[in-house]
Amino acid sequence: MAIRKVGVIGCGLMGHGIVQVAAQGGCDVVAVEADQAALDRGLGRIEKSLAKLAAKQVEKGKLAEDAAEAFVKETRGRITGSLERSAVADCDLVVEAIVEDLDAKKALFAELNGICKPETIFASNTSSFPIGEMGSASGRPQNMVGLHFFNPVQLMRLVEVVRTDDTSEESFAAARAFGEACGKTPVSCKDTPGFVVNRLLVPYMVQALMMLDRGDASKEDIDAAMQLGCGYPMGPITLTDYVGLDTTLSILKGWVDRYPDEPAFAIPRSLEEKVAAGKLGRKTGEGFYVWEGDKKR
Ligand SMILES: NC(=O)c1ccc[n+]([C@@H]2O[C@H](COP(=O)([O-])OP(=O)(O)OC[C@H]3O[C@@H](n4cnc5c(N)ncnc54)[C@H](O)[C@@H]3O)[C@@H](O)[C@H]2O)c1
Repeated sequence: MAIRKVGVIGCGLMGHGIVQVAAQGGCDVVAVEADQAALDRGLGRIEKSLAKLAAKQVEKGKLAEDAAEAFVKETRGRITGSLERSAVADCDLVVEAIVEDLDAKKALFAELNGICKPETIFASNTSSFPIGEMGSASGRPQNMVGLHFFNPVQLMRLVEVVRTDDTSEESFAAARAFGEACGKTPVSCKDTPGFVVNRLLVPYMVQALMMLDRGDASKEDIDAAMQLGCGYPMGPITLTDYVGLDTTLSILKGWVDRYPDEPAFAIPRSLEEKVAAGKLGRKTGEGFYVWEGDKKR
């Protein structure tokens, strides 16, 4: 089944990027938001991002100015916005990128089941919840996949395509092909906590914070060690500040509750304390570091 028309529910940080790359990939896209202000914000971000991309192509000599203008116009022309979830009824694929709240996601898919044509594939962009639970709630588990994009969607080249035991071959193949059409490299993964990237990355961040809590090394030295010793673009403590301490804690809490016997899922003391104190990372100006814009101390 070829994906020609895509609905994206939620046009926030991730959703607006998914809308944009799907439109760049040639799909017609309907972006659905909860209110007009959020929809305007999301579409505004897409317009800015498209203009920036076009200007870069001109600067690099890859596109002439009129071709760049045509690219922006064509891509933007494939996108419509709506406040009505019924607007995605005839979509081949609906991707959900609303808040990370399992009950909200389940309720959304149950509602979409009554709205969308029977063959519509459902995808969640969740970072941490089981796709299978959403599939069951949707009433069409054979059509349910995970499509886990990375932030910023326009730049990050990976998409994890997640299948449950119930996902049909057709749905899975169509979701992978959609990921490729969006310009991403798809990797296939079973419905396991954190899929591939977060299953490896989050426990690594946990170990770094526990090292800090034990006083084994300073945050600066832990970060420098992993940057210079492993060639990572940033160290794990800085990364936690970027991801957000609240987001990291909420992922971990969910995993610890759900998989109490998995030793890799643990909650570092400092993480809980910082979140309780409202120090959520770069976005609040302080997490493990104090931030002034991109500068930290
Ligand atoms: N932020 C990241 O780095 C990242 C990376 C990968 C995956 N994710 C996942 O993507 C999802 C979205 O995260 P985000 O960072 O874009 O959040 P966000 O808060 O920026 O965006 C969520 C948007 O959904 C809208 N929304 C909420 N309920 C809605 C509904 N019922 N109908 C229509 N719109 C609704 C909100 O108005 C908001 O604009 C989450 O599941 C998150 O775990 C996030």
